[in-house]
Amino acid sequence: MAYYRQVGTVPQKRHTQFRDADGRLFYEELMGEEGFSSDSSLLYHRGVPSAIVASEIWDLPDQGTVANHPLKPRHLKLHDLFSVEDAPAVDAVTGRRLVLGNADVRLSYVVTAAVSPYYRNAIGDECVYVESGAGVVETVFGVLPYRTGDYVVVPRATTHRWVPDTTDGPSRLYPIEANSHVAPPKRYLSKYGQLLEHAPYCERDLHGPSEVHVAEGTDVEVLVKHRGNGPGGVVGTRMVYDTHPFDVVGWDGCLYPYTFNIDDYMPITGKIHQPPPVHQVFEAQNFVICNFLPRKVDYHPLAVPVPYYHSNVDSDEVMFYVGGDYEARKGSGIGIGSVSLHPGGHAHGPQPAAIEASLGAEYFEESAVMVDTFRPLELGEAGTASDDGTYAWTWAGRSV
Ligand SMILES: [Fe+2]
Repeated sequence: MAYYRQVGTVPQKRHTQFRDADGRLFYEELMGEEGFSSDSSLLYHRGVPSAIVASEIWDLPDQGTVANHPLKPRHLKLHDLFSVEDAPAVDAVTGRRLVLGNADVRLSYVVTAAVSPYYRNAIGDECVYVESGAGVVETVFGVLPYRTGDYVVVPRATTHRWVPDTTDGPSRLYPIEANSHVAPPKRYLSKYGQLLEHAPYCERDLHGPSEVHVAEGTDVEVLVKHRGNGPGGVVGTRMVYDTHPFDVVGWDGCLYPYTFNIDDYMPITGKIHQPPPVHQVFEAQNFVICNFLPRKVDYHPLAVPVPYYHSNVDSDEVMFYVGGDYEARKGSGIGIGSVSLHPGGHAHGPQPAAIEASLGAEYFEESAVMVDTFRPLELGEAGTASDDGTYAWTWAGRSV
């Protein structure tokens, strides 16, 4: 995030004495990326942010993966993974189930109505897409309200917890865990970091915390996901803090969590079919995040509005279908809550009947979130458990 933000009270000069009404010093913490050479924020704590009293192993949910071998396109039915009745006992951190993963990103799914433990991901930024539901994410920077269609971007090592509002049902969350940082694509940005006129969203659409969130407590547990020698290079530790980690009275800087709602993305359309990069929202190391949204479609008199067949020679493509009836997948069995995996090395495109059906269309009522990775994805336990087993044969129109 290149956009400066100040919340709560901070001293006039950084790295100078800053005291409360009783004369006690606050403890200044710099939270920064790339070794003091990239975005950072300065946080002012009541307690010492390093003061832990215990550290023990946290056994993570199953992080194992199996190769997509023999190579096949897949249809994963994420709504089959959770029963809504179980949601009050499932939280957004320990309850998430691994769908797909590689050395750059892990894609999970969870249906939750429970408050999560305090948590931070020390491996990379998390971008959690809210398929449906509402609530708040309490963070060391303040509180972020979330709602259906939000991307909740939580920077690496930000202590936080998920608090669903269950009034209208559980929260369906699709966590995208990077092993790097998630940010707007560089081509959307000026050389100083402002979103440019051609970008499909702007700073007004990004919502950070607006006030600090201070809590009292001692011996507070925080689950930490970090690098290690577990499956996927991921392990967990449970740390116990002497005082509550939510003790920040003020902070400022350019590194903080924020939300962006999919409805605030203004789709770019054309006279003929526009390629996926016009639908890009974020980039990270070795993967991108795009969204396909309700939009007017191609207006050339002979336009074919659904995509041409394409061979992802450099990437695996993961589509998560979250709204409408996806035009190019008609006839495939894919619906809301489905994920399709189109692996590199195999051409894909519309199911044949979808091409004729799209001709003359002026508008597509469809929403999908796409993750394109530049290294092959493997199936997590939830990917294997939700695989429909027949999607690969739908273009040929046979059942096998
Ligand atoms: Fe594609």
